[in-house]
Amino acid sequence: MSDTPAVIGHRGACGHAPENTLASIAKAAELGAQWVEFDVMLSRDDKCVLFHDDKLLRTTGQKGLTAETSLAGLQRMDAGSWFSDDFAGEAIPTLSEAMDLLAKLGLGAVVEIKPSEGRDVETGRIVSGMVRDHWPVSVPQPIISSFSEAALEQAMMEAPHIPRALNVFNGLSDWKVKLRTLDCVALHCMHTDLSEKTVGKIITAGYDLRCFTVNEVARANTLFGWGVCSVFSDFPERIMA
Ligand code: G3P
Ligand code: MG
Repeated sequence: MSDTPAVIGHRGACGHAPENTLASIAKAAELGAQWVEFDVMLSRDDKCVLFHDDKLLRTTGQKGLTAETSLAGLQRMDAGSWFSDDFAGEAIPTLSEAMDLLAKLGLGAVVEIKPSEGRDVETGRIVSGMVRDHWPVSVPQPIISSFSEAALEQAMMEAPHIPRALNVFNGLSDWKVKLRTLDCVALHCMHTDLSEKTVGKIITAGYDLRCFTVNEVARANTLFGWGVCSVFSDFPERIMA
């Protein structure tokens, strides 16, 4: 059974601070979250960074692609101003920096492998290798998740002992065979796709079920009542209250 808390901060606490930044992770801790989720992509030079999109534009205002930009180039960008002037100059963190902060704050984490288009295999291999080799000993064992089955397959080979979760947006029809094939311990899905019956089937099959992105208390309570073990929330303090 899962020992993750009921509420996991989404992209840090991205309702309060720019997603996937150190400020967002710190905010989640400040709000009382015990775990956060963040997305990890590769730079052009195969460095692991916290970032969500293939394109840089939405959160940095820059043209171009994450996968075509070096780590040094990414580190020069401002990933905070788009959210608010209060976060101007907030950097795109490396996975190493994020792991250091988790250790400092005593937070656990779901590490979502987020491959740029066509980079599933190397992203899965490199991110899971980093987590395997550099996860701080003081931080609870993480969960590695991904929408990419190819990335999870790499994680299964590189870091078989780290629990894996498959993320799905739509279509819960073939979850069973996928979870078995990828030797996952959990399914992470959109809460809007779920019914009580489906939750029951997934849990009865022995898997933990976590839902994204849940920002309404009433909805979270319904999901918990059905047996969902954790929700990812942009406003973790709302649900925890
Ligand atoms: O890992 C759960 C959730 O973060 C998946 O969706 O698009 O926010 O990465 P997304
Ligand atoms: Mg994510």
